[in-house]
Amino acid sequence: MNKTYTKPPGIEDIFPDRITAWNFILNTAKEVCGIYNFKELIIPVFEYTDVFIRGIGTETDIVSKEMFSFEDRGGRSLTLRPEGTAGAVRAYVENGDYNRLSIAKFFYCGPMFRAERPQKGRLRQFNQFGAETFGSINPYYDFEVISMMDAVAKKLGIENYDLLINSIGCRECRVNYINELKNYYAGRKESLCEDCKKRIDRNPLRLLDCKNEKCLELKNKAPVITSFICKTCEDHHTALKNYLNGSNISYTEDPLLVRGLDYYTKTTFEFVSKGLGGQNAFAAGGRYDNLVETFGGRPTPAVGFAAGIERIMLLLDSNKIKQKQLDAFLVYSGEAAFKKSMEILNKLRSNNFSADMDPEFSGFKSQFKKADRENARLTIIIGEDEINNNNLTVKHMENGSQEKVAEERILDCLQK
Ligand code: HAM
Repeated sequence: MNKTYTKPPGIEDIFPDRITAWNFILNTAKEVCGIYNFKELIIPVFEYTDVFIRGIGTETDIVSKEMFSFEDRGGRSLTLRPEGTAGAVRAYVENGDYNRLSIAKFFYCGPMFRAERPQKGRLRQFNQFGAETFGSINPYYDFEVISMMDAVAKKLGIENYDLLINSIGCRECRVNYINELKNYYAGRKESLCEDCKKRIDRNPLRLLDCKNEKCLELKNKAPVITSFICKTCEDHHTALKNYLNGSNISYTEDPLLVRGLDYYTKTTFEFVSKGLGGQNAFAAGGRYDNLVETFGGRPTPAVGFAAGIERIMLLLDSNKIKQKQLDAFLVYSGEAAFKKSMEILNKLRSNNFSADMDPEFSGFKSQFKKADRENARLTIIIGEDEINNNNLTVKHMENGSQEKVAEERILDCLQK
């Protein structure tokens, strides 16, 4: 026997039983993004590795441990995108038509890749939809992306979620906070994990998103940024909260929410749900006012978020998602009935009804079983009697009732 292959860990096949929920999420996200006037952007699945190193930050877990990188034939290092923001910024800076606009609003969706330890809600290939607004420092735009994600969550029927928000200040006001953090952790170095010991000097903010239990304990008593942010950042944060209050979007302030990517300035936020367990964020984002400049563009403030489709799938009540039904399954007996079934099948399909049949001449029982398995709304039965009398027997699978329908009226019957 030939060897069978399995997929690498942390990667999923999405079979048809999950596709209805999948499309429901994606279509809802696209619809809401359209309502908010975000335009779709399709960005490449891989970039030069440097795009992510510069974008996300060398000391982040994503860059230091989780990237799928490889060399092309010319020896250049490429990386499968671990997230969408760095690529979107690279694309924005590279495309003069868009970076000359005062405001550019994009959304994107597709697979992302991170070599994380797989567990429930944490995959190595996962899918996001996300949105980015380029060109304004106005907190209205922070509010807009949060409000858009909130609208998606509500339309999807996600219940019992919380929106966490914070401001991590700007490059200037963060300096004092970082010194304070360094002092706090330097005195407790021995209790930290090996990674965090190094982070004290290299990138102290990252200490706050370590998931190690001992580090989490220390995090809970760590100094918070609230008392360090400057007046401009504080006003920005207050304005965001006023917008949220005015729109009845409830939130919880989490002064330790720094997020695992280095590019954030001012606003950070996460949509979290207890239903997810350890990996509790199903969407997250924030402002990144310096990233476009880092990528060689003109100084352009920006804000955005991304949501994880697989995590949202875990939150949806599958009973409430209506699976698409097959309109009709045709069941026949004998050569003449098979020919008639083919005619009817073509007629239904060319009139946009979904229809199927089994060409194997198997018994009625086995054909009915297939009709059941295909979740057909109607089964159309064609036997000797039907051929002789020029009619069809239609079985309504929902309640088992049967009726005779003249062949020329079959489309009307399906329409009902
Ligand atoms: P992130 O928090 O790394 O942010 O990812 C956003 C969302 O993607 C998470 O809340 C989660 O739902 C999902 N996600 C992340 N990693 C995994 C994984 N390994 N398995 C399954 N789902 C996952 C970003 O990616 C930023 N680019 C968001 C952003 C856009 N900030 C500004 N603009």
